[in-house]
Amino acid sequence: MENIASYISTHQQRFIDELIELLKIPSVSADPAYAEDVLNTAEAVRAALQQAGCDHTEICETPGYPIVYGEKIIDTNLPTVLVYGHYDVQPPDPVDLWDSPPFEPVIKKTELHPEGAIFARGACDDKGQMYMHVKALEYMIANHALPCNVKFMIEGEEEVGSESLGWFLERNREKLANDVILISDTGMISKDTPSITTGLRGLSYVEVEVTGPNRDLHSGLYGGAVANPINILSKMIAQLQDENNHITIPGFYDKVQELSRAERDEMAKAPFSLEGYKKALDIEDVYGEAGFVTNERNSIRPTLDVNGIWGGYTGEGAKTVIPGKAYAKISMRLVPDQNWEEITQLFKSHFEAIAPKGVRVKVKPHHGGFPYVTPIDSDGYRAASKAYEQTFGKTPIPQRSGGSIPIVSLFEKELKSKTILMGFGLDSDAIHSPNEHYGVWNYLKGIETIPYFYKYFTEIKQG
Ligand code: BES
Ligand code: MN
Ligand code: MN
Repeated sequence: MENIASYISTHQQRFIDELIELLKIPSVSADPAYAEDVLNTAEAVRAALQQAGCDHTEICETPGYPIVYGEKIIDTNLPTVLVYGHYDVQPPDPVDLWDSPPFEPVIKKTELHPEGAIFARGACDDKGQMYMHVKALEYMIANHALPCNVKFMIEGEEEVGSESLGWFLERNREKLANDVILISDTGMISKDTPSITTGLRGLSYVEVEVTGPNRDLHSGLYGGAVANPINILSKMIAQLQDENNHITIPGFYDKVQELSRAERDEMAKAPFSLEGYKKALDIEDVYGEAGFVTNERNSIRPTLDVNGIWGGYTGEGAKTVIPGKAYAKISMRLVPDQNWEEITQLFKSHFEAIAPKGVRVKVKPHHGGFPYVTPIDSDGYRAASKAYEQTFGKTPIPQRSGGSIPIVSLFEKELKSKTILMGFGLDSDAIHSPNEHYGVWNYLKGIETIPYFYKYFTEIKQG
């Protein structure tokens, strides 16, 4: 039996070329203009699963974009791993800020990636990370090294809230039955410090609209005498955090699980350089909730951020105007045991309550999701930890992430299984940003590590 490392050295160029082909299809789920490309991507993923050796693959229709399903069942008495990933990507905007076109992948060397990194939208999030699983499966099947059953479920709406996946889960519990769910859609600390993600934040995402006068007004004739919706919106947003950067929405922190000093001390052991962090972002100082350090602020604490704000005149030159309306998109990242539906309601009531007379306020909820935390004493975590030890020569560090994959908490509820988050991305991969990239080293290391997860998980399960 050929081992995975030698299989990779023989086939790595093809592994890279195949991923590049997948990255050329602009599967932007947020924009209906790309609908056909999203569907074509689903078909490409299905074909790749078939080629890798699945016995059965399928495009499962949903009310939204389809879910790609594939399976290789070798023996129903053996454990089953369910792999989840997403084939949709974020919009590439702002396209001007890319050094090369977002859907024309190129490999370039960077300081962190002397072996080269693939630059394209979706390179890391999540096509590159998802495709590692397809190639690991190819290896295991081709070399009679698949020790258990495997199912793949790759969706096309992760970046827009996974609504159809919830629908699909409810209707396919039997089909999706598994012993553990495996996902690569997160990151790790660094190339020489492997880590396993043990938590994800929840999310409440809302859009607000502030309406003042019934039309845009001359800012000289009316300025000072009527409420300017942009001024008001800015003041309202500013009030949502106090001088300690504590969120002021009544009840917001009621269900937040406070970590013990011992747990926080444990977290602080993970390697982190504040100087390096500031340098990478070109900021003079970090900023956040008083009483917490950076790695706590972005993982175990809830947040509130404006993601976009607009209204009035933003074109060339100057136009003197008081706009009739102003808008903002606001996200709140949540931690256990906050409930996103409750938080959305608390936000709405509070935002309406702080609006002065003279404007009307509308709060429109978008999507949301529950936070997730997984223990490190599960069979899946142990198997993952051993897999990293094998390929990195180091025990991975458990780490809670600030990002969200809202569907993960639903997996636990609907499918009753634990999720293991084996992410191989780096914070510097610029996911959701211009110049997203994924290191070739990370891609190949992921492919190398995954088969060991299957091996150890099966061994642990079979006792
Ligand atoms: N893969 C990311 C989430 C992620 C990235 C988690 C890195 C941890 C580390 C996922 O595709 C994503 O972008 N999720 C969205 C939420 C979604 C509802 C749009 C997010 O976190 O903003
Ligand atoms: Mn993702
Ligand atoms: Mn994403």
